[in-house]
Amino acid sequence: MAYQNITAEHEDHLGFITIERPKKLNALNKATIEELSDAFKVLEADSDIRAIIITGSGEKAFVAGADISEFSDFDIDEGKELAQRGQTMLFDLVSELSTPVIAAVNGFALGGGLELAMACHIRVGSENARMGLPEVSLGLIPGYGGTQRLPQLVGKGKALEMITTGGMISADEALKWGLLNHVVTQEDLMEFCENLGNKIARNSPNAIKAAIKAVNANDKESVDGFKVEIEEFGNCFGTEDFEEGTTAFLEKRKPNF
Ligand code: COA
Repeated sequence: MAYQNITAEHEDHLGFITIERPKKLNALNKATIEELSDAFKVLEADSDIRAIIITGSGEKAFVAGADISEFSDFDIDEGKELAQRGQTMLFDLVSELSTPVIAAVNGFALGGGLELAMACHIRVGSENARMGLPEVSLGLIPGYGGTQRLPQLVGKGKALEMITTGGMISADEALKWGLLNHVVTQEDLMEFCENLGNKIARNSPNAIKAAIKAVNANDKESVDGFKVEIEEFGNCFGTEDFEEGTTAFLEKRKPNF
């Protein structure tokens, strides 16, 4: 698929996706969501790629939300379809990906932008990052998983404060609240994320896949996460990575996964 709104590249073990609509503060229109979905699938299918970093172009925004101009005349059914399609095509896809995704939040992460960052496995912000779910100011609620993922990350009270006020919080507040894992200067953001990605890349891809599955099971009420953990833990013993990891330890060398 040829991309008009994003770029997707890879270097060594890292995949990089950049949303390229800086004049619209990287707002997510339909085409961008489709391209992102495709890019994540392509990078996930490449076994050389051990971590993916997603960021926004320019110095102002990660993503300033879903593209408001595209849904301003929608009715109830179209609204439901918009949320359902987006969740399945992109947000759940990212969250369930077996390759860890790091959001390099380089500015505004609002609405669908914060929801995209929250669907990623790890979030790092630059000092100028500003995060919020302003949907209620538009007469809406978050529709790309925000009402579910925000309370998981920051707790119900803080989530409801963010959602009902529609206000933005600073990078430092987001760090305190657990919405960002780290805050660094904008200049250092990509290098910091690359270092994180490279640390991940040294570990067993099979074990990482199993870990994401088990941790994600914690979010699903109908699934017993402890059972998923036992199953995934056991399955690891049947992998070449387990053999290599334990052999390398006993031979006092670094594993080669
Ligand atoms: N959808 C569509 N276009 C958007 C957008 C969005 N979510 N966010 C920003 N843009 C566009 C603006 O319309 C503007 O386009 P224009 O130059 O053609 O008029 C351009 O991006 C720059 O935005 P602007 O508002 O001029 O920048 P600013 O620095 O004054 O304000 C924000 C930045 C992020 C505070 C402001 O753009 C904003 O509130 N955006 C909407 C955030 C939102 O509600 N997101 C949730 C959507 S569900």
